[in-house]
Amino acid sequence: MPTPRELLAARLRAALISAELDPARADVTQSADARFGDYQANAAMALAKEKRANPRDVAAEIISKLDVTGLSAPPEIAGAGFINFRLENSFLSTALSAMAKDDRLGVSRVAQPRKIVVDFSSPNVAKPMHVGHIRSTILGDCLVRVARFLGHDVLADNHIGDWGTQFGKVIYGWKHFLDREALQKDAISELVRLYREVNRLEETDETIKRVAREELVKLQAGDPENFAIWQQTVELSWREFEKLYTLLDIRFDERLGESAYNDALAPLCAELEKRGIATESEGALCIFFPTIPALEGKPAIVRKSDGGFLYATTDLATIEYRVRHWHPDSIWYVVGAPQALHFQQIFAAAKLMGIDSDMRHIAFGSILGEDRKIMKTRSGENVGLSEVLTEAVERARRMVEARSDKLPQEEIESTAHTIGLGAVKYAELSQNRLTDYVFSWDKLLALDGNTAPYLQNAYVRIRSIFRRAEEDADISAPILLDEPAERILGLKLLQYAETVPVVLDDFRPNILANYLYELANTYHSFYEACPVLKAPTPAIRASRLLLSSLTARTLSHGLSLLGIRCPEKM
Ligand code: ARG
Repeated sequence: MPTPRELLAARLRAALISAELDPARADVTQSADARFGDYQANAAMALAKEKRANPRDVAAEIISKLDVTGLSAPPEIAGAGFINFRLENSFLSTALSAMAKDDRLGVSRVAQPRKIVVDFSSPNVAKPMHVGHIRSTILGDCLVRVARFLGHDVLADNHIGDWGTQFGKVIYGWKHFLDREALQKDAISELVRLYREVNRLEETDETIKRVAREELVKLQAGDPENFAIWQQTVELSWREFEKLYTLLDIRFDERLGESAYNDALAPLCAELEKRGIATESEGALCIFFPTIPALEGKPAIVRKSDGGFLYATTDLATIEYRVRHWHPDSIWYVVGAPQALHFQQIFAAAKLMGIDSDMRHIAFGSILGEDRKIMKTRSGENVGLSEVLTEAVERARRMVEARSDKLPQEEIESTAHTIGLGAVKYAELSQNRLTDYVFSWDKLLALDGNTAPYLQNAYVRIRSIFRRAEEDADISAPILLDEPAERILGLKLLQYAETVPVVLDDFRPNILANYLYELANTYHSFYEACPVLKAPTPAIRASRLLLSSLTARTLSHGLSLLGIRCPEKM
């Protein structure tokens, strides 16, 4: 379904062509202020600058060729040469009726679907998932959902950190002081305990340090006992990660961790060297980027002088594998901002290797505690994701239980999950991903403000209107927009289709979150101004019920793209 913006842009393009002006200027945007109509075009100003003409004259010339029949009232010129459009109510009604009959709520599939690999979450084995991984997990999942919904072919790959120097220590600890009972109860905590214990002992005991390093070399050489221990640490850690993913309703298509590429690292380095892409420098094998000023003096090291491989080597082998097996048009990496240099390097190296997939580092900032410092537990450790989620559900349960019209006991648990987990996800997704944000329980669970519980509550309140009405909305009821609040709501609903695709322009779920927040507010004003169940005529009642139902569907659909569910009651 073309959106109002697309329809207006098409008319404008036709007018520009017939006025012999550059049709590439035919862009139309939503007006920020209703006084200037619903949509605006600034083509006249840009074109006047090129022609050194008066922008208002150019605007008048464009308007003389502009046919907006059936779409908008006659366009008006405002200010320095803006062209303002005000959509006709009959057009809005027809478009809303089509939206009501559409499962996709008017959102079109992209014209050219792409194959996209999304690399996200990617926690490290034998280490707890910390709040930094929350951002990658929640953001990555949302981008996967939006891209899929828009029709792209998406492959979600969890590139877990299941290989590295930490395993020498973990294996040494496993062999000498493993507590099996603790491992059963909470595998990751026990693995972390082993790692820390060995770290501590190594400080004063050179022998332990040497033996732990030997355990690592043995693992790398394929020693069966060490390999079996390593395998168990991976499986046990994965099981814990999986509990979190299940709780969060997040799925992956692949789980190819760093270890999957071990055997590819040596041949890759040999090939890079043979092709002259990498050269030896002080014993290490490096890729230099002489043509990229930002990477001057910052080569990617792919093999250390002791023969060991690095993070960059694994990532290059991973790219090669993905390209060979999946042929992606794009690869998106949802990883924190501190790794920016690493991704610049490997993207540049991949180019040198002749790989032309479009690769993006989708970076994000930190989560801060209420003291505005990186969030820590009371004992000074990084806060684990699982603690955050448990506390979110617990707080939501208390909130649900405190409500006056109490839910039946069996619904409390699932509602608490929906609200608590939704609140954590929304706190993440409603932020500009690049800024650090302060994690505040009271703020993210508040029933008023830009929060998931507020949006869920707006949905629940609309559903309760239908319970009282004892009927569903009739999707073929004509939509009447005579009251200003009805018209504003109708326009806002139609703009859902214009909002969802924008999320992928710069990977900004907060644009969708803000839209949903505004939609809920718009509905609130409509509800204050326009009685629904006690509407003056049956036709107006049917129209208002349909607008209400469309609002509930849009809220719930938009939240689902953010990975958030809606309860039926709360
Ligand atoms: N495991 C890494 C970490 O926790 C993130 C991996 C991101 N993905 C990648 N292909 N490098 O920092």
